[in-house]
Amino acid sequence: MSDTTGDAIKTTAGHPIFFPVIYYRAYNLFSNLVVYTPSKLIYMAAYALQINGKTYNIEADPKMPLLWAIRDLAGLTGTKYGCGIAQCGACTVHLNGTPVRSCSLPVSAAATQKITTIEGLSDDNSHPVQKAWIAEQVPQCGYCQSGQIMAATALLKKNPKPTDKDIEVAMQGNICRCGTYPRIRKAIHTAAELMAKS
Ligand code: FES
Ligand code: FES
Repeated sequence: MSDTTGDAIKTTAGHPIFFPVIYYRAYNLFSNLVVYTPSKLIYMAAYALQINGKTYNIEADPKMPLLWAIRDLAGLTGTKYGCGIAQCGACTVHLNGTPVRSCSLPVSAAATQKITTIEGLSDDNSHPVQKAWIAEQVPQCGYCQSGQIMAATALLKKNPKPTDKDIEVAMQGNICRCGTYPRIRKAIHTAAELMAKS
C-alpha cells in the first residue's frame, strides 16, 4: 500500500509507477515537512512575504501555490482551499489591492508584492464589509465567505456605489454552494452605505 508521502505504486509485474503530482498533496496534508520525493528533489528558496503589513520569512518551492504559503507557512488560515484550480474563489486574497486566486499563483510571483488576507481587513471585524456581513447574516456554512468578503472589498474600493449588475459581474467568480448570493448582494449595498457615511 502506498501512503500520501510516497509517490510510487507497484504494478502487477512488480515495476514501480511514479506519480509526481503527489507532492502537491503532500504539501496539503503535511505542510512543509515533505521536501523530497523519490522521483524529484524540490528546490527551496527563501522569501520575505509581505502579508497584512508584516514580514513572514519563509522557505518554499518557488512553484508552491501562494495559498499553501499563507496557510501552512505563515499560519494564516482564514483563506480557504476550495477547488485548487482557480474556479471557486474561496482562496481569494489581494495582491497590491487586486483580488487573485492564491491557489493558482506561485509563491514566487507574490514574493515582492503586498498581500492582504481576510485577517488584514481588521483586528476586530470592524471593517465596513465585515460589519455589513454580520448585519445581513450572510454566511451559512461560511466556507466560501472569506473569499467572498475579499472580492467584495476589492469591488467597493474600485466602485464605491455598485449596482446589482456591477455586483453580479464582480462576484461571479466566487461560488457559494450554500447559495447565499442574495444576502451577499444586500451586504455589499449595506457596506457601500457604511463606507459612504464614514
Ligand atoms: S481554491 Fe482557489 S479558486 Fe477555488
Ligand atoms: S456559505 Fe457555505 S459555501 Fe458559501
